[in-house]
Amino acid sequence: MTADRITVAELQELLAAGRPVTVLDVRSPSDVDWEIPGSIHVDAYNDLQSGRLGPLAVLDLPPGPVVTVCGVGRTAAIATHLLRVNGVEALTLDGGMRSWSLAWNTAQTTISDCQVVQVRRTGKGCLSYIVESQSEAIVIDPSVDPEVYVRLLGERGWRLVAVADSHIHADHLSRSRRLAHLEGAGLVLPAQDRAQYPFRPVADGERIVFGSTGLVAMRTPGHTDESTTYLLDDTAAFTGDTLFLNSVGRPDLEGGTQKELASRARLLHMSVRHLLELPEATQVFPGHFAEAIPFDGRMLGTTVGTIRDNVALARLEEAPFVQAVLARIPPSPPNHSRIVEFNERGELPGDPSELEAGANRCAIA
Ligand SMILES: [Fe+2]
Repeated sequence: MTADRITVAELQELLAAGRPVTVLDVRSPSDVDWEIPGSIHVDAYNDLQSGRLGPLAVLDLPPGPVVTVCGVGRTAAIATHLLRVNGVEALTLDGGMRSWSLAWNTAQTTISDCQVVQVRRTGKGCLSYIVESQSEAIVIDPSVDPEVYVRLLGERGWRLVAVADSHIHADHLSRSRRLAHLEGAGLVLPAQDRAQYPFRPVADGERIVFGSTGLVAMRTPGHTDESTTYLLDDTAAFTGDTLFLNSVGRPDLEGGTQKELASRARLLHMSVRHLLELPEATQVFPGHFAEAIPFDGRMLGTTVGTIRDNVALARLEEAPFVQAVLARIPPSPPNHSRIVEFNERGELPGDPSELEAGANRCAIA
């Protein structure tokens, strides 16, 4: 932290430690499609561009530092300067929301003698998992810097056995190949012919063994043709982008004609049906969450029974399901076709935040 700047890692640490800090978002309202959890948005963009605090001059701010944030840090730096002139302990978030895209936090729980760490990309809502049994671990859908998983594994004394993706991702760059390489672990992908690098393909029903247990691959096509859920002894289902806590996945990001889209929506319906036939106490841990993820250490998950009761879309018969899904597809995630190209080639650019900026748009709205 310098006199008037703070890095993403430093802010992440303050929030994770529950320290008093006010995050003041000064982006223009039209640019606010995702946010830092607990942040206050004040529409002062035009005033700041003209060198005035505008509504920020009369804000009643709680004690503790104020972190200003905008798209990439320029307007926030103006706010910081003007606030500091007014005696406020203000700091600019380095790199703004574009850099915040890479911030993460964790939650941890125990499920049938396994430890499950949920590693959450707080801004984009990407959820990844470290699942441990007898000090051996599998990482599912890694979406933050591979070094983060290396550190989390090292702190716990766990050995990485395999890294598994639930599908070829379109909203974030997969860190699986890099992480598997760093740790000398196996790389597991659903069987398909899209990935252009060596991996262990898993088919429906295949088991990935670790510790005293295993993850069983359950093919759940629809979001993509290869989409796969990983089951931990019928006590937990890592559903990727097929089934979310309040919604289902979108079937359109692989492109194709309207007819192909409808056919993928029908597959999705079948997959969701299969998942909802799991025991009602089965925990569902999806690949995304729709909102900014708080630094509260609470797992984001629910049970099959709760989804059956509460998610009306998931209960629909095939024809109304297809109709509802096709009518509610949100805008595509930014750069999705370029991200897919990188993921099919197994490449990770030096600065992923440029391609990955923006909100998560994986679920049917
Ligand atoms: Fe996806």
